[in-house]
Amino acid sequence: MNWLVLLLVIAALAGLWVVDRKVRRLNMLAWLAAWFAALYVFFSYGIEPPLPTSIVFMYLGIVVIILTAYLSATSAYLAEARDAVVAFTTEKRYAIPLVIVLVLLPLLVAANVYLNITQEPAAPISGRTIHPPPPAQIQFKGKTINLATAANPYRVLEERDPAAFAEHVENGRRVYFQNCAFCHGDNMEGDGHFAHGFDPIPANFSDPQTIGILQESYIFWRVAKGGPGLPHESTPWSSAMPAWEHFLTEEEIWDVTLFLYAFTGHRPRALHAAEDSALE
Ligand code: HEC
Repeated sequence: MNWLVLLLVIAALAGLWVVDRKVRRLNMLAWLAAWFAALYVFFSYGIEPPLPTSIVFMYLGIVVIILTAYLSATSAYLAEARDAVVAFTTEKRYAIPLVIVLVLLPLLVAANVYLNITQEPAAPISGRTIHPPPPAQIQFKGKTINLATAANPYRVLEERDPAAFAEHVENGRRVYFQNCAFCHGDNMEGDGHFAHGFDPIPANFSDPQTIGILQESYIFWRVAKGGPGLPHESTPWSSAMPAWEHFLTEEEIWDVTLFLYAFTGHRPRALHAAEDSALE
């Protein structure tokens, strides 16, 4: 609720009421118009967060019904409104305002149509599927990798041989800081030096909704094929994520994947959970 707008609306109505009582009686039509305008202003600017225009129009439709009901409540009200309209359209002294209204009304309608059809061209609003389903298999340097079954070959070392595992993570650290940190950031928060030049911005791996919900084979696919490897269906992609298959070896990609998880503390999604497909 925007109290300032509410206060202004109440003050305007109160002001009219004073005029009506002390200065000059207002016609029934003027009152109805004032109430309509007051409620229009209140619905459009007085409510926060703002109501959608369609809802505002719906409310105004209800207001029109209420005002019409009020107007037709007694024949005196009705007569007063009718007499005002008849006077305005037939009496000589209103000739000039009448002409103005008759010219102005079509002009306003025309202006509204004109403004609506001459809107600035704008980019279409379109959603982006951040985690599209991966292909079943990919070609990596001439080798076929089945993404549904491929596991990180070095993940088993985590329990079997922690020292060898640490070496792979260390290699992943090197790969990350030599190649990825410029975009994904020193803390993997998607805020590297170049990040803000891109749309979409680089993924923020500290956010549990990125690598935390993905399998390592998915990460492998995204790192190997980058933005160019994303499916085109339905969404416009202009991801700046490079296709690292041209620059890194298979081992380096698995190692950097280990490092992404080691650094952020997230755990990869397990392979057997693949069927309930949450790769949004
Ligand atoms: C030129 C900037 C840039 C560089 C360098 C870069 N990335 Fe990215 N990366 C992006 C952008 C932008 C996105 C988000 C759009 C997308 O998903 O393709 C992204 C997305 C990703 C994703 C997908 C995350 C998700 O939640 O789907 C992974 C994984 C990833 N990057 C890993 C890496 C790794 C590993 C490296 C280094 C080898 C790297 N990136 C280097 C720009 C970059």
